[in-house]
Amino acid sequence: MEKSGKAVHSEDIRIFYKNRGILDELKIGGELNLSTEIQIFDNGPIHVKGDFDLKDGQGKSFPKKEEAYLCRCNLSSNKPFCDGQHEGNLSHCARVENA
Ligand code: FES
Repeated sequence: MEKSGKAVHSEDIRIFYKNRGILDELKIGGELNLSTEIQIFDNGPIHVKGDFDLKDGQGKSFPKKEEAYLCRCNLSSNKPFCDGQHEGNLSHCARVENA
């Protein structure tokens, strides 16, 4: 891991989460830079902001954007992106536990 340079990870970052008994895997591939922020919204999508490369399951990149809202309720008609279908259908607040 390089702290002074831009690249923090050169390998895929996998976020596993369990929702409604379904284990989903969100794979964010490629380089993640220090300027990238990922926030799990309460009862909502995963917000990715900054410099990132979002790839599909075959490694093909989605069009470059400065931010993306990724569905974690599995109800979106536009997966992997959120389309608002989580409203009233997702009850999960991710919290960092004290070590
Ligand atoms: S999180 Fe918004 S539609 Fe799934």
